[in-house]
Amino acid sequence: MELTKREKLMLKGNEGEGVQKAMEILVTLAEIYNARKMVEIKSAQVAGVSYKNLGDAGLEFLEEWAEEGAKVKVPTTLNPAGMDLKNWKKLGIPEEFAKKQLMVVKAYEKMGAKPTCTCTPYLVGNLPTFGDHIAWSESSAVCYANSVIGARTNREGGPSALAAAIAGRTPLYGYHLDENRKGKFLIEVECKLDKISDFGALGYLVGKKIGNSVPYFKGIQKADSDQLKALGAAMAASGAVALFHVKEITPEAKLHNTVSESAETIVIDSLKEAYRELNAETGEIDFVAIGCPHASLAEIEQIADLLKGQEVRAKLWITTSSEVKEMAKRKSLLEKIEKSGANIVADTCMIVAPIKEMGLKNMATNAGKAAFYAPAHCGVNVRFGSLDKCIEAAVTGRW
Ligand code: F3S
Repeated sequence: MELTKREKLMLKGNEGEGVQKAMEILVTLAEIYNARKMVEIKSAQVAGVSYKNLGDAGLEFLEEWAEEGAKVKVPTTLNPAGMDLKNWKKLGIPEEFAKKQLMVVKAYEKMGAKPTCTCTPYLVGNLPTFGDHIAWSESSAVCYANSVIGARTNREGGPSALAAAIAGRTPLYGYHLDENRKGKFLIEVECKLDKISDFGALGYLVGKKIGNSVPYFKGIQKADSDQLKALGAAMAASGAVALFHVKEITPEAKLHNTVSESAETIVIDSLKEAYRELNAETGEIDFVAIGCPHASLAEIEQIADLLKGQEVRAKLWITTSSEVKEMAKRKSLLEKIEKSGANIVADTCMIVAPIKEMGLKNMATNAGKAAFYAPAHCGVNVRFGSLDKCIEAAVTGRW
């Protein structure tokens, strides 16, 4: 592959051990994927932040890289951690876990990453523009950035996104190139999509059918950004979709033909299969989790309206970033929600927090991605349905 003069020097160690390590990772990746050269990136988003997933080996790896003097060259934000960094005690997070989690975030901060701890970095200032090359690793954010914003990123792993941040570049292959961005499946949607959970259900079905391919949707009449984020997140979870197009809605599909001539057609005329497969038998609902991907201010507003001051019986978590939580506080939504006994939980999510250790057993959610992952990752039984239904379950404990 062709490296620039500076890249060769970085690889030799002229900019320090930390940068050298980053370049070694990137060059290895470039060789695996046959990339001809590197491309400079505008931002990075790094997954692999929760101590629950990293463990001690991951923590040591990060501390060592930070010790080697590695510093990010582009704005870099972090994925959710395993707990709310400020209010972890109040939420019942075990002390030993909290200590290790704070060490992880400290190592990242030492390298210059911003501890935003969110899977919706585009809602808190890490907002690329159309055509920007970036290196992001949270699968739902990758899907949103490629599809809804029209930026360009592969589905990076935590270490490769961090390496790209430290080197300021990433190998030019995959979704960075025009030729890989066309829809390979034409998805004809013939059923009504109304709630966010419907978009999650559709995403679950499509991801399961097409794996890591690129879908082009026809028949979706309208979709707002929260619905598109739910659709992408579910496809990225049940499959490994990193890019999708929606006719007349997403930016690339508005600009030019983004469906390949040889695309295979799949018709989706019902969401029943998704609702059936993502729902299990549960006893009393003791946990309701909303905000996967992290909730926007509009979603929090909706929850406050649905709660109408009623007291919750189950633990109700609305997960979001600390910035959006702060906005909710300024609009008095936080106060309203807390009055009901619910929590707006920042910096973490239901999947990476130690839910099992907190003794929770039966969870309800309106997110296709959370419903898909929670049984295996959190050891809970899951109910999946609309936001209205989830809030009702939080109040009554019944589904
Ligand atoms: Fe975000 Fe956690 Fe869902 S990282 S997309 S809230 S599983």
